[in-house]
Amino acid sequence: MITVNEKKFALQTANTTYAFEINETGHALHLYYGKKVRFADDLSDFGMIRQKREFITGNTIAYDQEHLALGMEDTCLEVSGPGKGDLRSPFAELTFADGSRTVDWIYDSHMVMRGAKVRKTLPGSYDIMTFEAGEGLLKKRAEEEIADVLRLSFLEKSYKVRLNITYLVYENTNVICRYADLVNEGEEDVIVNRLLSLQLDLPESGFEGIYFDGAWAREMHSYHVSLGHGMHVNRSNTGTSSNRANPFFMIAKPQTNEDAGECYAFNLIYSGNHMEIADANAYGKLRILSGMNDEGFEWLLKPGETLEAPEAVMSYSADGFNALSYNMHSFVRQHIVRGEWKEKDRPILLNSWEAAYFKFDEGKLLKLAKRAADAGIELFVMDDGWFGERDDDTKSLGDWEENTKKLPHGVKGLADKVNKMGLSFGLWVEPEMVNVNSELYKAHPDWVLANPKREHSEGRNQRILDLTRKEVREYVVESMRKVFGSANIEYVKWDMNRIFSDVFSQGEPAGGGLKNRQGEVAHRYVLGLYEIMAELTKRFPHILFEGCASGGNRFDLGILCYFPQIWGSDDTDPICRAEIQQGYSYGYPLECVSAHVSASPNHQTLRRTPMKTRFAVAGFGSLGYECNLSDFSKEQMDEVKDEITLYKQYRSVLQHGRFYRGGMGPLADRVAGGDGTSVLYNPTGYGNITEWTMVSEFGTKAVGMMLKKMVQPNTQNITYYPKGLEEENKYRFFNHELSYDIRDFGDLVNTVAPIHVKQDGLLIDILAKKIKLPAEKEEYVAYGSLLMNAGVALKQNFSGTGYNENVRYDQDFSGKLFFMEEDDGTVPVSEETVEEIRREVEEKEEPEETAAEEINTEEVPEEIAKATDNEGENSNE
Ligand code: DGJ
Repeated sequence: MITVNEKKFALQTANTTYAFEINETGHALHLYYGKKVRFADDLSDFGMIRQKREFITGNTIAYDQEHLALGMEDTCLEVSGPGKGDLRSPFAELTFADGSRTVDWIYDSHMVMRGAKVRKTLPGSYDIMTFEAGEGLLKKRAEEEIADVLRLSFLEKSYKVRLNITYLVYENTNVICRYADLVNEGEEDVIVNRLLSLQLDLPESGFEGIYFDGAWAREMHSYHVSLGHGMHVNRSNTGTSSNRANPFFMIAKPQTNEDAGECYAFNLIYSGNHMEIADANAYGKLRILSGMNDEGFEWLLKPGETLEAPEAVMSYSADGFNALSYNMHSFVRQHIVRGEWKEKDRPILLNSWEAAYFKFDEGKLLKLAKRAADAGIELFVMDDGWFGERDDDTKSLGDWEENTKKLPHGVKGLADKVNKMGLSFGLWVEPEMVNVNSELYKAHPDWVLANPKREHSEGRNQRILDLTRKEVREYVVESMRKVFGSANIEYVKWDMNRIFSDVFSQGEPAGGGLKNRQGEVAHRYVLGLYEIMAELTKRFPHILFEGCASGGNRFDLGILCYFPQIWGSDDTDPICRAEIQQGYSYGYPLECVSAHVSASPNHQTLRRTPMKTRFAVAGFGSLGYECNLSDFSKEQMDEVKDEITLYKQYRSVLQHGRFYRGGMGPLADRVAGGDGTSVLYNPTGYGNITEWTMVSEFGTKAVGMMLKKMVQPNTQNITYYPKGLEEENKYRFFNHELSYDIRDFGDLVNTVAPIHVKQDGLLIDILAKKIKLPAEKEEYVAYGSLLMNAGVALKQNFSGTGYNENVRYDQDFSGKLFFMEEDDGTVPVSEETVEEIRREVEEKEEPEETAAEEINTEEVPEEIAKATDNEGENSNE
């Protein structure tokens, strides 16, 4: 809701309020952003919260002769410029034709539209939301999205440049967006050195900033810094939103945790270079800025031209990070993700990359696909290596013709066969790139971002296509149109594996070329990319697109406007992934993060982890498999099948539910008592236990996950605390644990085995196939309030002093799932119980050993007996 009285403005969402006013000099003074408050209907009580000024202090600059008490340095503003006494980092920096760089934004007019139909804006894309001059209407009504919209118009006092700031208020999701556009209404050129999107001036600086940095294979690592003094800059200059510093960040009061305390979240709907500045000044005020990175940025704004900045997103929560994330998740789900896949369940896929890399042919892929189909997987994806002479990463990017040696029947032949198996088919492309070793590069060496006067630096042996050029964009659209139309392609993984270097457009100056305007290239590249994505997603609306950039090097809201999911990281190790996915979870709903079960030892870390852990972590994302199922044993395949059945059963909760993190949150070390796991061994520094809960929309179902990184002996008791359940609902709580592999117990098996079993011998493998140790069973019926507040005291953990079926055995890297279902009074029988009953019945009918203690030498089959011959007598006996 937007309330306006004269020049006072109050923007209200369900739980938050944002307020500002125009003062006597025409500056927009920020007054309040926080928990929802009630103002007088005429907003006359703004006077109470307005900062009082009678005399200018010390050596600060007074605005002008008439306003000697007004110093910009100590004032909270909605927009700012340099040169008039405000010493903080400015919102916009311009150079006028006479060389002047002072900028002063003075209110000119405003316009309000309540309940407007809007579509999220991407600068320069085909569906930018703009106002029809004078009519107060939006030009484009591409999608039915309702928001209250307020546009404020400022004029630079001495030069004819207009700055429009548009606020979009999304009441239900507690999100307010804002973006800026700059119009040169004068007769001379203006150089834009900086045009940001968001400015939030808070009256206090006692905040912690929580940012997400990283690199390849270790994206979204959260860290926090005190924002009490000086300036902190989070920024990307990779040409993408980058894995080095995601544009999503938060600020919070120091005691804030996952479930309590004040915090704000910010993001940018943009996929290029960005920067987020927190500038705390000498007066204890904190300025938050976010927008396009101005390093190397310079935009020539000719008379009559407009420059649009991307849209920024902000939200506030008085109830900790989980509630803040929920705001961001709901916003992304409702207003960012669009198209046919917006609310659809995402398919479970098998991706060929870690299964085969470049080394495959049709036969190998079909074998994999068959395994996938048998396991219940729904989509088969052929990754890199299917086109040109692409046997490694040195060649063929740009030549999008299938490799007929690998695929004698073409993409279509493969897709048809895959379809016949009951799977849908998808493939990998990297349309923004070209290898020097390619036909495309030979034909158009100037189509890349490169300066012919200098040696080009290398990045994965490839060059970036110059998407600022129309003919290049047309080529990309046309070549992809051919690929996507060549077979029944229902999914596309759109990769981008090079960060920017040697940025230089060789486009001709005629026709809008960029000679001497190289400071515009990085931003124009992103605009070009959006144009291409818009065109292709419009032409192929049924395709599920997945973004990717060496994993998460371009994980942002701009990409999510077109591609509903993004490959979160090239790191598929579940222990790393838990950190990474938890990082994403602060700002992005988990179905937007695709996550795969991969091989063990893992290809990036060589770490061995149990399959159930890999599944538990990947299950809290859009699930896929990326491993060579063709090599899986029957036992492993059975496990995969079980997982897939389970995931399908809970997919709607996992992909559309409300997500909660356990523990104390990213500021844990600032909070007495640590992150709730401080008594446990914490070797990684990130917390030993990761605890997640996903709850269905109406709270009738929930899935929980607990991941333990390192075992610490003699820490028997651990409690799982679900969150988000309905307090008054009764739930059946149960776990998903079927059995343990006896090999996990190493040579402890010999304490009960009647014959000696060598740890890595053949015998143990054979025994392991026949004998499983029963796992602990957790099953309770309890009210939501009890489950959430007292928690579920899980079975005693194995501590080296004894083991039976009531002992929980968590080895290192153990991830376990829990389920909660509303108990409607019918007999509570879980899958596990059914399985148990089945086992018991079978045992009664035909007694069979289920535990190591029960091994009877009389009954050792012949093959085991043979193997024991080689292993010798048990020396302890
Ligand atoms: C980088 C991606 O992140 C991987 O998943 C894979 O698709 C490779 N590129 C293929 O070259």
